[in-house]
Amino acid sequence: MDQQDLVQKIKQLKEKKHALIVAHYYVEDEIQEIADYVGDSYYLSKICKQREENLIIFCGVAFMGESAKILSPQKRIIMPNKYSDCPMAHMIDIKKIEEVKAQYEDLAVVCYINSSAQIKAHADVIVTSSNAYHIVSKLKQKNIFFIPDQHLGRHLAKQLPEKHFIFNDGFCHVHTNITKQELEEQRKRHPLAEVLVHPECPADITEQADYIGSTAGMINYATNSSKLEFIICTEVGVLHELRKKNPNKQFFSVGEQFICPNMKRITLKNVYEALVYADEMKQEDGVDCSDVIKDMQVEESIARKAECALIKMHELGE
Ligand code: 13P
Ligand code: SF4
Repeated sequence: MDQQDLVQKIKQLKEKKHALIVAHYYVEDEIQEIADYVGDSYYLSKICKQREENLIIFCGVAFMGESAKILSPQKRIIMPNKYSDCPMAHMIDIKKIEEVKAQYEDLAVVCYINSSAQIKAHADVIVTSSNAYHIVSKLKQKNIFFIPDQHLGRHLAKQLPEKHFIFNDGFCHVHTNITKQELEEQRKRHPLAEVLVHPECPADITEQADYIGSTAGMINYATNSSKLEFIICTEVGVLHELRKKNPNKQFFSVGEQFICPNMKRITLKNVYEALVYADEMKQEDGVDCSDVIKDMQVEESIARKAECALIKMHELGE
């Protein structure tokens, strides 16, 4: 089947099953194109809860689908590729959280949404890069244990000197590899460009930013800016929406090698197979959908605790 046939079949099956397809800005461009909604992690967690469809094909990494399932347990959330996972989501263990909790009385465990459901179940509140400052500034606790990402944690600590932060050593293997030299090189080539940076980047990159924010935040910033050139310090997938929304502006990636292999695992064929699977069709057109698809499930006791922390994010984030 060529790409055009695949797209056609996805559209037909999507309609037949009354399914919703959502995608993160880091998945392949052709998947962003067939999705009903494309967004950052906060927006996707909101839209999956708000929409009425009971079948959601979630084109993103595991923690995103897990969050959607926790917030809408009655919906069927299908991950087109079960190997699409974010390593940062596992860069903290429960023992460490318990140890820090035992050390401080006046403590909030603030957990980045890039975390497994088990970790979220031990947090007081979840945040994303688009709402972390807003939420942490509203917390009454003085001590903040920020998990799992050290860079977002350190970025927040600079903005909230009245809080005492305890950091974890988690990181994103894509953003952490963006170097000062690469950014300087791009700045020399494009001296008029503004620098937009994701807060998962290390401090020597965020220090040089004109804007620091989530993927959606960067898109909004560039769209509303009067500037015409931008250097983008995040995963390359975000360039698709930036260029689509701003055909008169120029976007330069800090490096084309900054690709999230986890997000890019998802293929158009996987999306089609996920719909075939949901339709309980048998090996239609030779499709074998048994190996890579995951019908998202989260253990009940974990899900209900993690839900409290996610709901708190939605309440404080508004
Ligand atoms: P956003 O919430 O900004 O989309 O970030 C998600 C992510 O995984 C960044 O690496
Ligand atoms: Fe995880 Fe980094 Fe990929 Fe985002 S870019 S999903 S943090 S590995």
